[in-house]
Amino acid sequence: MSSEHGWMEGRGAVASDTCLGRVLAVEGSEARIGLAFPLPNGPDRPTVGKFVAIKGHGTSLVGMISEVYQRIEESHVSRAMARVDLLGEIERTAGGVSRFRRGVREYAAIGDPVEMIGREELNLIYASSSARAITVGHLSQDPSIPAYVDTDHMLAKHFAVVGSTGVGKSSAVAAILSKTIEVRPELRVLLLDVHNEYRAAFGDRASVIGAENLRLPFWLFNFEEMQNVIYGGKPAAPEEVEILAELIPIAKGKYQAGPDRLAVDRRPMRHAGFTADTPSPYHLQDLLALIHERMGKLENRTSSMSHHRLSMRIEMIKNDPRYEFMFKHANLGGDTMAAVLSQVFSLESEDKPLSILKLASLPDEVVDAVVCVLARLAFDFALWSDGAIPILLVCEEAHRYASADKASGFAPARRALKRIAREGRKYGVHLGLVTQRPAELDPTIISQCSTFFVMRMTNDADQALLRSAVSEAAANLLGFVPSLGAQEAIGIGEGLPLVARITFSTLSRGEIPQSESGARGEGDRPIPRSEVVRTAIERWRRATTSQSLRPEDGPGEAKVEPHPTAPSLRLANGAAEVAPLAARPPLDVARPTLRR
Ligand SMILES: Nc1ncnc2c1ncn2[C@@H]1O[C@H](COP(=O)(O)OP(=O)(O)OP(=O)(O)O)[C@@H](O)[C@H]1O
Ligand SMILES: [Mg+2]
Repeated sequence: MSSEHGWMEGRGAVASDTCLGRVLAVEGSEARIGLAFPLPNGPDRPTVGKFVAIKGHGTSLVGMISEVYQRIEESHVSRAMARVDLLGEIERTAGGVSRFRRGVREYAAIGDPVEMIGREELNLIYASSSARAITVGHLSQDPSIPAYVDTDHMLAKHFAVVGSTGVGKSSAVAAILSKTIEVRPELRVLLLDVHNEYRAAFGDRASVIGAENLRLPFWLFNFEEMQNVIYGGKPAAPEEVEILAELIPIAKGKYQAGPDRLAVDRRPMRHAGFTADTPSPYHLQDLLALIHERMGKLENRTSSMSHHRLSMRIEMIKNDPRYEFMFKHANLGGDTMAAVLSQVFSLESEDKPLSILKLASLPDEVVDAVVCVLARLAFDFALWSDGAIPILLVCEEAHRYASADKASGFAPARRALKRIAREGRKYGVHLGLVTQRPAELDPTIISQCSTFFVMRMTNDADQALLRSAVSEAAANLLGFVPSLGAQEAIGIGEGLPLVARITFSTLSRGEIPQSESGARGEGDRPIPRSEVVRTAIERWRRATTSQSLRPEDGPGEAKVEPHPTAPSLRLANGAAEVAPLAARPPLDVARPTLRR
């Protein structure tokens, strides 16, 4: 039957209220449907991204339309066609109960009728029976259907949130984490906050760690990490590295021996039992003394110069106020490892399961080493505690620490994250990766992720990379990625019942992660530019001022100064928002953003 427009119903198609057409061909996980004429108009129009059901014997195959097109027959008549990716099946059990299962066991046959999927079936597909499932938003296709994510599956094999800048990744992460800690109170989350933007998003459920209160003693850094700190990420001088490798274990031995130090001094080094990597305390002063002692005995001028340069380097970073988090109390010693673990992984606080580490508050040169130490600590702690406390490490801008380009970034940090990606599951360490550039992320790490939230993205290389990491059906759906709306994502993988186009829940103004340097406060009122400049300079200087030297600090631990109450963030002309002057203690002395 042909129409005046030259359209023809699919061969054998029955034009009824519900039948959309019939199966014409099946190949692999793909079916070609001849659409019946007239095509329905309204919400049930067969358009790309919609779900259809192919009715078989006792089961309905569930598929998603990945393409609609027109085929010109030999008779010069065109036929409306649809390509459908087969994703799963709804089975009716003997008791009359319907169940959805991923994957296809019984394939479609030619002539099987095809219908649009109804709300009831969508509900059945996307319903979750897991007690540890969370709702992160709703299906874009039907806002009445919640988008569930099963946190057990999402965490077990890691997850990634990817998308171009400003599409809502951080907000999605805030929504996901907020719900996850509700259903998994035992989980401890360490969020590496590159732009200092998550502070407000979790309210009092998170403890915020910044340069002012982080205590990560230098002796927790392994040999490579310590070199990275001492040489600011630049290549180290081999002669100096040799000296360090030899003397750090001796300094550790001295510390361990306590007052009976002479005994260690006389013992050959190999008997000290320590390596430069052992996470065991030592006095920096001892290390410096050992270097000086060696230097005094040397006759070779070149070698003596190497010792001198090394001791100068160590002195320099030790006295740099920005490195206080590593070196404060460096010479007082004390095994603070338990305290460090408790702080960074929020181990002691029941009501604060989340720690936010404001990386932008640390010196740029040292961020890679800090991330490396933390990733290593997370894994090693889980390993040695037999995974007793599950830990989720969330890395914003993950491509910075685990770059695909071996020549860029800090290799040990990439290695530490890779190790979690590969083996973390066995010990209860999970990764959450957030990146604008998945193609720049180490491929091993991305290939270990089993749940993806792919937000709007236009870069071809990024899309191609993701396509190769997911199933064929999901890869077809990734075709939508450039046209996704704000807050929208294609959810793919084990955490979701089925690949889905979802819209993340809208966060309230206070929950949206936003850079503290661009934070908005209620009731902003204009302030003069001169005030903005004055405060910017003050923050700038404070970032390089020793906290212990501030007159208002007493002896002991560095205190965080209360934020000076300031009226507003808005320029007098109301044009732009500027540095945070709002009364939100403590004052953040961080650089506003990090170099990418
Ligand atoms: N779920 C959401 N609820 C409310 N607002 C949102 C949501 N998602 C995004 N937005 C809006 O979009 C803006 C940008 O979102 P967000 O900072 O999460 O993007 P991003 O992808 O993390 O950006 P960047 O790449 O710069 O880090 C937010 O400031 C907010 O105004
Ligand atoms: Mg962000």
